[in-house]
Formats: sequence, structure tokens, C-alpha cells
Amino acid sequence: MIQPKVVTIGLGYIGLPTSALIANNNIPVYGVDINQKVVDIINAGEIHIVEPSLDEAVAKAVLEGYLKAGIKPVMADTYLIVVPTPFKAKNEPDISFVQAATKSILPLLKEGDLYIIESTSPIGTTEKMLQYIYSERPELKDKLYIAYCPERVLPGNVMFELVHNDRVIGGVNESSTLKAVAFYSQFVKGELHKTNARTAEMCKLTENSSRDVQIAFANELSLICDKAGIDVWELIQLANKHPRVNILQPGCGVGGHCIAVDPYFIVSDYPLESKIISTAREINNYKSFWCAEKVKNAKLEFKLKYGRSPSVALMGLAFKPNIDDLRESPAKYVAQKVMQDAHNEEYFIVEPNIEEHPVFKLTNFEYAIEKADIVVFLVAHKEFKGVKINADKVIIDFTGVKFQQ
Ligand SMILES: NC(=O)c1ccc[n+]([C@@H]2O[C@H](COP(=O)([O-])OP(=O)(O)OC[C@H]3O[C@@H](n4cnc5c(N)ncnc54)[C@H](O)[C@@H]3O)[C@@H](O)[C@H]2O)c1
Repeated sequence: MIQPKVVTIGLGYIGLPTSALIANNNIPVYGVDINQKVVDIINAGEIHIVEPSLDEAVAKAVLEGYLKAGIKPVMADTYLIVVPTPFKAKNEPDISFVQAATKSILPLLKEGDLYIIESTSPIGTTEKMLQYIYSERPELKDKLYIAYCPERVLPGNVMFELVHNDRVIGGVNESSTLKAVAFYSQFVKGELHKTNARTAEMCKLTENSSRDVQIAFANELSLICDKAGIDVWELIQLANKHPRVNILQPGCGVGGHCIAVDPYFIVSDYPLESKIISTAREINNYKSFWCAEKVKNAKLEFKLKYGRSPSVALMGLAFKPNIDDLRESPAKYVAQKVMQDAHNEEYFIVEPNIEEHPVFKLTNFEYAIEKADIVVFLVAHKEFKGVKINADKVIIDFTGVKFQQ
């Protein structure tokens, strides 16, 4: 392989597409992952994740010699940290992966190198890593360029958005910001916005917290409307006729590995100040619990009315419409809660975007709707729009999919 100019640490949903994109711009990349299986797959020119166009990009990069993977980093000029940043118990961010990735490149760093964190990180992480690097390699103090640049891509459209999205780039000093901007300008067509590292870190957390707060507002409205006997879908549609109002849609909670996670990175460090952000998390979590209770009550009412247990169709498990991703999914949570309370009822679990699930036995959606007494919409998948449901069935719609028909 050609001498690598860039080392990426972490070859997952973000690190691999990023590595492939850089390599496809004829910049030699050495990708590192602690998972040997991932490394072997990539070196064979194949991929271990589902993402449109990524297979071609990786195959080309590996074939042309611009991308190689390994489990240990090698020397380069630029190091990108793209490892997971999950949260621990008590919703505290866990930056140990960032620290471990940084430790692995410590002996390789040399004067003039550029170090960039892309992982979603709590405020101050880049400065912490700067202190860590310079405490271990004091002879390099102020001789490295260190920056933070968050990722904003939408899974399913990553290869396009990596190139075309605007990016926010924040260095620990101005020369670091400029060096990082010069690096990204080699392969990003979107605008590159300069700032400092703390602002760039907070910017990513703000984007996802903003979505969470806005969804919480819609979810809160849905709780109020349910009690007040108002159709929340109609209400929001009417309110949005105001030229300066744009309310999002409620659902059965908030899921995924970003919006349901990142706000905690703010709340955990600024508990006194982040009132709305932390309340939004509570509302969105509570909404899932409330949905499960609603279904349980509907089952009881049915039993009292007809003297037998109802059959129940649970429509959708993914964390948002038209995807197969079940991580942190509120729909999955509701399904689990409802089924924990199962007595003799028959359940039909539907998720049109996956073939099988280790826990749930999946059913075709048309069959489920035909057989169930109670039909519960948990995700507004496109397959559910316009489906005909007999008038004798109980319909519980947490998604607005019935309103859109
Ligand atoms: N996936 C997204 O849509 C998305 C969007 C925006 C931001 N992010 C952020 O990007 C970061 C990466 O997310 P992801 O979805 O790519 O994660 P991922 O879990 O898909 O991939 C991370 C990879 O890093 C590897 N890894 C862990 N520790 C390592 C180490 N010390 N050295 C080398 N490899 C190591 C893992 O084996 C894994 O393959 C996270 O901070 C995430 O919050 C993700």
C-alpha cells in the first residue's frame, strides 16, 4: 500500500464511509478497528454494515490501494477519531473509547500532525485529549494541530451527505481550525464553518437536543389532547397553518442512537441549567410508557365488553419510519412492555423492514390487521398508509398514520 496520509480510528457507520470517501479522493487511508473481523472484511474489499453505495466506494478504494485496514495504527499526518461515545449508567457520557483510541496513536504522533475527534462528545473532550496527549508527549506541546468536527449524516444517505453537508470545525486554536478546514476541503463540498472546539462539540449536542425538545412539545400536546378529547393530528395541522408555527409530529417516544442519547451529554454536565433539555428527555421517555399503558387499558376494556381476551397487532418496531434500525426504539419498548403484561391474548408483531427478530415472531402486516381485534400503530411505516381496517376493530394510532390516509 501507498504510505498512508490519514489514519481513521473506528470503522463503523461513520468511520468506514469517511475512510472510503477520503481514499476515493486519492488520499491514502489506513483504517483501524479493534474488531479483527471488521478489518478482514474491509481488506477483502467488502463491508460489514448496510449503507447504500458504500460497498462500491470501499471495493474501489481497496482495489486501487488507497484504503487498507488493520487493528493497530500506523504513522500518518492526520488522525481521525471515530469511535463510539455511548452513555454509562446514570446517563453519563462514556469517553473511554476516545481516550483508548487516542492512547493507541500517542507513540506515533510527530510535530505538525493533525488530530481530529469526530465522535459525538461532551463539551471539553477535545481539550481533555489535548491535555492527555501533551502530558504523555510533552516535547510535542503546541506543535500539533488539534480540532473537533462532528458528523451530521443521515444513515441511508451517508455517502451523499458526507460530501454535501455543511460542517462545523472547531480547533483548540486558530491554526488548528485552519489546518482542519484545509483537510476537509479536500473531499467536502458543503460549506466548512470555523469555530472553536467547545462550540463545535456543543453544536452537535445542540442539534440533537433541539430535535428532542421539539418532539417533546408535540408529545406533550398529544397527552393533553388525549385527556381533552381533541384529535392531536388535526390540531397540529391547523396550528401549523400559522405562518410562523411549525410543530413536529408526536409518536410513541424518541429513539435511535443520537437524539435519544446526545441530550444527556449536556444534562449530565449542566444539570442545573439544562431544564428544558432534561424535561424533554423525561417527556419523550414517559410517552413510551404512556403508550404501553394505553394498550393495556384497551385490552382490559375489550375483555370487559366482549368477555374474552383480544388479539393485538403491534405495527412497527423500528425507531422511525421506513428503516430497519431498532436501537433505542420506543416502538420496541412499547411492544416489550405490552407483551410483559400478556395473559391469553394472541399477538401479531409487524416490522416490514426486517425478516426476523431474535425475540419477536414477526407477521405480515396485512395478515395482522385482518386477524387482530386491536390494531396498534407504533411506527408510521409507508406500508401502513392507506390500509383498510374493518370498522369493528379497535384502532390505537400513536403515529398519525391513520390521519394521513
Ligand atoms: N451512526 C450515525 O449515524 C452517527 C451520526 C452522527 C454521529 N455519530 C457519532 O459517531 C461516532 C461513531 O459512531 P458509529 O455509529 O460509527 O459507531 P459504530 O459502533 O458503528 O463504530 C465504531 C467502531 O469503532 C471501533 N472501536 C471502538 N474502540 C476502538 C478503538 N479504541 N480503536 C479502534 N477501533 C475502535 C468499534 O469496533 C466499531 O467498529 C459516535 O460518537 C456517534 O455518536 C454517529
